[in-house]
Amino acid sequence: MSGFDTSWVPEFERQVGCRMQSNVPMSRCTTFGVGGPAQMLVWIDNESELSQVWQYASSRRIARRVIGKGSNVLVSDRGLSGITVKLTGNLSTIRPLDVSAGYLDVEVGCGCSLGKLLAWARTQGLGGLEGLVGIPGTVGGAIKCSAGTKIGCIGDHLLEARMLSRKRIGWHKATKLGLGYRRSTIGSLSVVVSARFRLVRKTSTEVAESYENARKARGNQPRGVRSAGCFFKNPKKRSAGALIEASGCKGIRLGDAMVSLQHANYIVNAGKAKAQDILRLAHKVMYCVRHQSGIHLEREVELWGWTRGG
Ligand code: EPU
Repeated sequence: MSGFDTSWVPEFERQVGCRMQSNVPMSRCTTFGVGGPAQMLVWIDNESELSQVWQYASSRRIARRVIGKGSNVLVSDRGLSGITVKLTGNLSTIRPLDVSAGYLDVEVGCGCSLGKLLAWARTQGLGGLEGLVGIPGTVGGAIKCSAGTKIGCIGDHLLEARMLSRKRIGWHKATKLGLGYRRSTIGSLSVVVSARFRLVRKTSTEVAESYENARKARGNQPRGVRSAGCFFKNPKKRSAGALIEASGCKGIRLGDAMVSLQHANYIVNAGKAKAQDILRLAHKVMYCVRHQSGIHLEREVELWGWTRGG
C-alpha cells in the first residue's frame, strides 16, 4: 500500500464502526479522474461519527481530510495516507429554518452537492446562490475554498458555518471565516459540518432569469471534461485564462494532460493522464506566463498527498 504506515489500521477497524474501505483509487473520487489510492476511505453519516473519527485520528496523529466531490483537488499518483472521509446521509440534508415574507433561512449539511442545493432553491423560488450555478462541488468544499464566479460566491448569503476542529464543534459567523477571493482561513484540520444560508424570495420569472444569466456567464467554459475547473486564481485585475493564452500555452500537452483549447485556465485530463503530468503541465504554464508577462500565477487547485504525510 504505497509505503504508508499501516500499524494503526487494525485498531481503527476494530474501534470505529463506520463503513470503510482501504486502498480506494482517488481517480474514482476526483473530477480530474487521477490520483493514487486513499489508504482508508471512511463514509460518515452524521456529526457524532465524524467527531469520533476526527478525534481518534487527531489523538494518534493520523493524517485526515474530508473529500467532497473532489472537484478542486489534485491527488498525487502515490495516493493519500491516513483517513479520507466522505460525507453522506444526514450530512447532506437541506432543512428550512426561519421563514419571513422576504427570505428563508436554511441549514444545509456540508456533504450536500451545490447542484442539489441550487435545484432545491430554484424550485422553492429562492435566490442568492445563482453565482454557484455549474460549480460541481459540495457545500463544505465550496465554503472552504470560497467558491464562486463573477456573479457571486458562497459567502454572499452565508450566515454561519458549523465547524469541527481538533477538540470542539460549534457555529462560527460567516464574517469570522476569512472568506475572500478563493480563500478562507479555515485550516486544513477543521471540517465544515453544516451551514446556514439566508436565501431571498423571488418570483419564478426572476429566479429563472437569474439562473439563466448565471449559466450564460459560464458559456465559454469546457463542459463534460475531466478537470478541476479553473486551475489558477485570477491575478489582481487580470485574467489567468487570457495570460495563459498570450503566453502561447493554449492547447499544449504533456502526456494526456492538456491546456484546454476552449479556456486556457482549464487543465484537462484528455485520456489517461497521471497526476504528475497535470502538475508538470501546470508548472510549465506558470513558467511561460512569468516569462511572457512577469506575472506569478497562484494555484486555485489544492495539492493532496504530494509530500510525506500530506
Ligand atoms: N480569456 C482568454 N482566453 C482564454 C480564457 C479566457 O483570453 O482561454 C479571457 C476572456 O475572453 C475574458 C477573460 O479572459 O476576457 C475572463 O475569462 P472568463 O470570462 O472565462 O472568466 P475567468 O476569469 O477565466 C472566472 C472564474 C470562473 C468563473 C468565471 C465566470 C477564476 C479563476 N475563474 O473565470 O470560476 O466560472 O469567472 O464567472 O476566478 C473556477 O474558479 O474554477 C471557475 C471556473
